[in-house]
Amino acid sequence: MNQVKVNLDDRSYPIIIANDNFEHLAKKLVRLNLGTDAIIITNSRIRALYGKKLQKTLNTLKIATHIFNVQDSEKSKSISEYVKIIGKISSIDTKKRLFLIALGGGVVGDLTGFIAATYKRGIAYIQIPTTLLAQVDSSIGGKTALDLPSGKNLIGAFYQPKLVYSNINLIKSLPARQIRSGLAEAVKYGIIVDPKLFSYIEKNYKKILDLDSSCLSYVIKASSLIKAKIVENDERETTGLRTILNFGHTIGHALETAAGYSNLNHGEAISIGMAAAAEIAHSMGILPGIELKRVMAIFKLLKLPLEAKKGDLKAVLSAFLRDKKFINGRIRMVLPSKIGHVFVTENIPYNLIKKIIKKRMAD
Ligand code: GLY
Repeated sequence: MNQVKVNLDDRSYPIIIANDNFEHLAKKLVRLNLGTDAIIITNSRIRALYGKKLQKTLNTLKIATHIFNVQDSEKSKSISEYVKIIGKISSIDTKKRLFLIALGGGVVGDLTGFIAATYKRGIAYIQIPTTLLAQVDSSIGGKTALDLPSGKNLIGAFYQPKLVYSNINLIKSLPARQIRSGLAEAVKYGIIVDPKLFSYIEKNYKKILDLDSSCLSYVIKASSLIKAKIVENDERETTGLRTILNFGHTIGHALETAAGYSNLNHGEAISIGMAAAAEIAHSMGILPGIELKRVMAIFKLLKLPLEAKKGDLKAVLSAFLRDKKFINGRIRMVLPSKIGHVFVTENIPYNLIKKIIKKRMAD
């Protein structure tokens, strides 16, 4: 078992990286004493796999359980789903001390976190991420959110969990494509701050893709440490440090948003975005060619795409320009200067961005 701590005064919490049958979760829950009743929010697929085991673990601790399913889709981060679940929670909330458990990926984590942040002005919740992407990124940091028809994550709160329990066994049943998607975020951490993590992935990519437990554990721990440090120094996105986490996301999000690219998952879209940002940095004379080569090569090793399929360049560019990362109409991107270092800049010629995005859309 490995443990990483997120240090935030009275909002501090541990991230446990385990490879067990919920024993370390049980131990921690006894110490945390979060309540008498746990409300588990999950989806039907994850519930079928791990619901019973989790309920049994909690019941052994004399914690009663209630389990609510949501759809395994971004649609679940809606106001209507929120109202529905809050209604169910309040109907069972009689003389009980409730806490919430997010058992799932990013959607379940965001929704559960926002319910926890707002029900009775805030109750405790824990994250049990069941995707690699959630284990290395979205379960850590306390940003919780719902979507509006006009945009993603437009309603939200900063609200930290009391515990993140990342169990490697829970991601072993994931399709290979989802594992690769999570690895894209780990590669991102390597490029933005951790050349050692980048080299580790380069060296061990085969074992990682084969879900070797000690390799996964290394990658999840290294990623959790980086995310924890960044959140500690910019919990509420006020110092600008969290911005570096957007590396690859500006062009990546444009691809995710533009019609015709629903074939890309998040990790795939940001891989193309990171490749494009690295090329932009190289074209501007900032990133040496040898580093660009390594960046491009790692995506190939991990079977992540470097190109989106040919499509509507105009739609991608307009999604890019509508992105909320644009401050006062200026194009703001995170660019690498070497593996392990990035910086935020607003001085990128738009024609260069256009040229590189076009290049990253296969002809
Ligand atoms: N919940 C994800 C984050 O705070 O970054």
